Amino acid sequence: MASSTFLHSYSLLLLIILPFLPSVFSATSSNCSANSIHLNSTLVTNHTWNSPSGLFAFGFQNVLSNKEFMSVLAVWFPKDPHRTIVWYAKYKQTSDLGTMHAVSSMQKSLAFPSDSTVKLTNKGIVLYDQNGQEMWHRPKNNSIALVRCASMLDSGNFVLLDETGKHVWESFEEPTDTFLPGQILAKPKSFRARHSNTSFYDGSFELAWQSDYNFVLYYSPQSSVTREAYWATQTNSYDESLLVFNESGHMYIKRSNTGKVIREVLYGGSEEFLYMARIDPDGLFRLYRHRKDDDTIADSCSSGWWSVVDRYPKDICLSITMQTGNAICGYNSYCITINGNPSCECPDIFSSFDHDNNLKTCRPDFPLPSCNKDGWEQNKDLVDFKEYQNLDWPLSDYDKLVGTAMDKDMCRQKCLEDCFCAVAIYGEGQCWKKKYPLSNGRKHPNVTRIALVKIPKTGLNKDGTGSLGNGREQSTIVLVISILLGSSVFLNVILLVALFAAFYIFYHKKLLNSPNLSAATIRYYTYKELEEATTGFKQMLGRGAFGTVYKGVLKSDTSRYVAVKRLDKVVQEGEKEFKTEVSVIGQTHHRNLVRLLGYCDEEEHRLLVYEYMNNGSLACFLFGISRPHWNQRVQIALGIARGLTYLHEECSTQIIHCDIKPQNILLDELFTPRIADFGLAKLLLAEQSKATKTGLRGTVGYFAPEWFRKASITTKVDVYSFGVVLLEIICCKSSVSFAMASEEETLIDWAYRCYSQGKVAKLVENDEEAKKDIKRVEKHVMVAIWCIQEDPSLRPSMKKVTQMLEGVTTVSLPPRPAIFSSSSFETSFTL
Ligand SMILES: *[C@@H]1O[C@H](CO)[C@@H](O)[C@H](O)[C@H]1NC(C)=O
Ligand SMILES: *[C@@H]1O[C@H](CO)[C@@H](O)[C@H](O)[C@H]1NC(C)=O
Ligand SMILES: *[C@@H]1O[C@H](CO)[C@@H](O)[C@H](O)[C@H]1NC(C)=O
Ligand SMILES: *[C@@H]1O[C@H](CO)[C@@H](O)[C@H](O)[C@H]1NC(C)=O
Ligand SMILES: *[C@@H]1O[C@H](CO)[C@@H](O)[C@H](O)[C@H]1NC(C)=O
Ligand SMILES: *[C@@H]1O[C@H](CO)[C@@H](O)[C@H](O)[C@H]1NC(C)=O
Ligand SMILES: *[C@@H]1O[C@H](CO)[C@@H](O)[C@H](O)[C@H]1NC(C)=O
Repeated sequence: MASSTFLHSYSLLLLIILPFLPSVFSATSSNCSANSIHLNSTLVTNHTWNSPSGLFAFGFQNVLSNKEFMSVLAVWFPKDPHRTIVWYAKYKQTSDLGTMHAVSSMQKSLAFPSDSTVKLTNKGIVLYDQNGQEMWHRPKNNSIALVRCASMLDSGNFVLLDETGKHVWESFEEPTDTFLPGQILAKPKSFRARHSNTSFYDGSFELAWQSDYNFVLYYSPQSSVTREAYWATQTNSYDESLLVFNESGHMYIKRSNTGKVIREVLYGGSEEFLYMARIDPDGLFRLYRHRKDDDTIADSCSSGWWSVVDRYPKDICLSITMQTGNAICGYNSYCITINGNPSCECPDIFSSFDHDNNLKTCRPDFPLPSCNKDGWEQNKDLVDFKEYQNLDWPLSDYDKLVGTAMDKDMCRQKCLEDCFCAVAIYGEGQCWKKKYPLSNGRKHPNVTRIALVKIPKTGLNKDGTGSLGNGREQSTIVLVISILLGSSVFLNVILLVALFAAFYIFYHKKLLNSPNLSAATIRYYTYKELEEATTGFKQMLGRGAFGTVYKGVLKSDTSRYVAVKRLDKVVQEGEKEFKTEVSVIGQTHHRNLVRLLGYCDEEEHRLLVYEYMNNGSLACFLFGISRPHWNQRVQIALGIARGLTYLHEECSTQIIHCDIKPQNILLDELFTPRIADFGLAKLLLAEQSKATKTGLRGTVGYFAPEWFRKASITTKVDVYSFGVVLLEIICCKSSVSFAMASEEETLIDWAYRCYSQGKVAKLVENDEEAKKDIKRVEKHVMVAIWCIQEDPSLRPSMKKVTQMLEGVTTVSLPPRPAIFSSSSFETSFTL
């Protein structure tokens, strides 16, 4: 019944908006055609039903969730390396059979058994488990046979059609968390975020119509009866409205009767892009886009296919304050928005500990003030306060002090005198006293508060009494040291010599025992192990010059993800060559390099297992929608320079990277740059240089001129590429896109022109932070110009570059790079 009234109102609705939305109209009246899925068709796990242009796929997708693969019936973008899911069947919430399958956890309820099948019958689409038991079907009322065919449309709508071409059911009528152009959201429909990127059960955030037609973002966890609004369109003075999303990425609210646009919600730009809007697991409603004509897959780029155009709310950390409990971050932690994304942090004298519900919770590294007679806070001389600017934990105070005389020192004094007071918050003549646990933590320049955290003066974590973590290990170390100190010097010397000897023998034995590779550093994996770790190479992270990278979890260490790189272009040099290279890579240890954990060279398979990097590639970070801070960029440039210096000069075998570019520089959870793909060049040199010569036009790209000549390849090719990357870091512009947009000038030409005309500020237009630091910008540009000298011998070594960036050595005036002799340079230069 529900579905039939829906159909009715939907068609009514279509009549109203028909003149405005021709695409929706044409979609609804399509009849069964050659592209349609015919009755009795079945879909098994490894097949999909694709839309005519191949933009969307319908089928089962295996998703790595909590280190387990789950099967989800979904609609996704098959061209996107992340196969971004835009719709999924909510089995438990909507299935009539849901209650029959009492499942232990919600998690399981959305995953179908891996050998389920989907069948299209004249009563609709039905999902059966391996025993032929019906688990889910649409339309919900399948007592009448009217389905003629099904179709995965190019709009992303999966539809069931009757013989007149009318939609009996469509996936657009059951929104999940993603809004696609052409889709319309009418009351009472809503979007709900999933629990996490890969867990498809309902999360805590919802985007819905209020009864008064205000369109609102809510924090509404399953466990709570109330919901907390944290953003709204304020359209409540109008009635009967619809949320519309069109092909040029415009999302707006309009009145259903007149069609009048009441409010623009999000604004994409143009029809050159594909769009989607999604309420993400972190509570933000984001508009994403991807350039339509760009089918290239960004290498190892975690968010490269889609870029964020806009988001609501602008700062979620400041938008939600819960009366009880927390929404974004857990107890004692605080929320901070970095590059538009919320992040939960612990104050530096707190550590995070195991968190459930996705909320990061922090615990002090010192015993809590207890108000006991023997508590450390009783002796006022031993009490200290740690101060944090712009930090607040609102609402959890038990006492508030106001007064004309109230200042920071008095606030601190009041807290000192009160043994219950764990933290005092001071701001604008007011003082709040708080106890643990602290909630709703937030840090932002607009938070004009100072947090004063009461701590023991005697140092943190010394007084093992507080049941705090690693007290025992520490006391062991203290014990050993005190024994050493206590005994005579002579004894110590003997002890140390013995220790070194033992270590030396042990170490050598280990090296001798392992055939080729040092077993201590990297492990050998069988192909089967890696196939299992990645569950059959299902979740692709990216595709690069050397092969495809997959995400996985090793059986031996399920606590972290790994990236498994399958080399598909390795020159068949035989086992020995590969092992030698792998052992060279395995011996590198530097904080700016991605660690190799293991490898596999079974039969024709060549695989490498690396650490997994959380924050994707520098390319995504740099050329994404929100520009990283200038200081962060400076640190990243320095990190890359240090990593390269290590490869060139400091590791046991010199490694020339040969392919330095932002796609090959990954960022770990702290945004430390980590160089990837080093040491592979030798294995792939033949293939690589061929690709270089054919794939590049003129001076575009990161390749030094000597690649195109019969010159020898030295470490200076990396210096050149680094120079190009450094310019990109300074300008936040991709040299490749720059070349595509401009016929005559490359990024290098432009940068040198601005520099030589004394207009360095033009390179960092709209970047106030960098402009305020223009001397340093200029220094970086000069270093970059030194690196891109055509004559390799003029280019400094990476060590010198590092020193220049560190400020240890001064940077002299760079000569003109003289790269302009190539054909791409003809005009526009007068010097
Ligand atoms: C399903 O549709 C049929 C025919 O329209 C109707 O008679 C029946 O009541 C509906 N059943 C439910 C559960 O809505
Ligand atoms: C589908 O299968 C049913 C039962 O097996 C059969 O009666 C029907 O003719 C089939 N329909 C088509 C279009 O093949
Ligand atoms: C799909 O799975 C079936 C069996 O489940 C198998 O026979 C078939 O080869 C598989 N197809 C592909 C393309 O993997
Ligand atoms: C769909 O097919 C039916 C019957 O074959 C026909 O009457 C109708 O006009 C068709 N509709 C469209 C839009 O082609
Ligand atoms: C979820 O995916 C987005 C991009 O799609 C990414 O930025 C984010 O870090 C992911 N979150 C987690 C917890 O993996
Ligand atoms: C989408 O909506 C905007 C604003 O109403 C309009 O300017 C634009 O032309 C529309 N685009 C399409 C493809 O309908
Ligand atoms: C911070 O304060 C400024 C000035 O009052 C305001 O313009 C800005 O929107 C505020 N930022 C946030 C995230 O609230």
